[in-house]
Amino acid sequence: VSLPHAALDLDLPALSKADDDRFMTEYERRVLVALLYWIKAKTVIEIGVQRGHCARVLLDHVPTIRWYLGIDVEPGYKTGLSVQQTEVPDVAGDLVLQERRFRLKKLRHGSFDLTELPSCDVVLIDGDHGASAVSHDSHLAFKCVRPGGLILWHDYWPPFANDVVVTLEKFRGAGRDIQHIADTWLAIEVQKAI
Ligand SMILES: C[S@@+](CC[C@H](N)C(=O)[O-])C[C@H]1O[C@@H](n2cnc3c(N)ncnc32)[C@H](O)[C@@H]1O
Repeated sequence: VSLPHAALDLDLPALSKADDDRFMTEYERRVLVALLYWIKAKTVIEIGVQRGHCARVLLDHVPTIRWYLGIDVEPGYKTGLSVQQTEVPDVAGDLVLQERRFRLKKLRHGSFDLTELPSCDVVLIDGDHGASAVSHDSHLAFKCVRPGGLILWHDYWPPFANDVVVTLEKFRGAGRDIQHIADTWLAIEVQKAI
């Protein structure tokens, strides 16, 4: 994907980052800011919001955002992939709970408890990285992102055949225009007009 370089060159101050943010690189966060800035995103959903590291950065640096919905699981949830168990936060969204544009949806089985999401400009998929969850979350996003909006996935790193890669390759095989963003673990699709 050719990123909007003008946006990537945005003169951003150092991004806010909590000490325990081990989930994305600074460059990945800048790319996300740039992309949301580029489409003037107003409405954003993040599946797998964790403490809200990403939400904090995007709410701080993308002034067009009107609401940001973070989705996560209840404590005690057993993740599909055991390596992800330590990612389940004690207090989901605590870095942004005071922010008036932020809403948290905490569900026993996370996004698995949802059959639809509100219409929005962006869905960022970064929850359970097992194949069935990635597929489920992608279908939720395909239905709710408005034409011209963005679907973004994290943990997509083509040299590895992890479940995110395998699942997104299947979607590509079925004709979806999902692309890797160079030098990141992000994949993107711009929602087409129906
Ligand atoms: C990699 S962390 C997310 C990091 C966050 N996106 C960020 O950039 O700051 C994965 C999160 O997904 C959550 N999660 C796991 N399974 C989920 C599910 N089925 N639905 C929603 N969230 C889920 C975990 O509790 C954890 O908070």
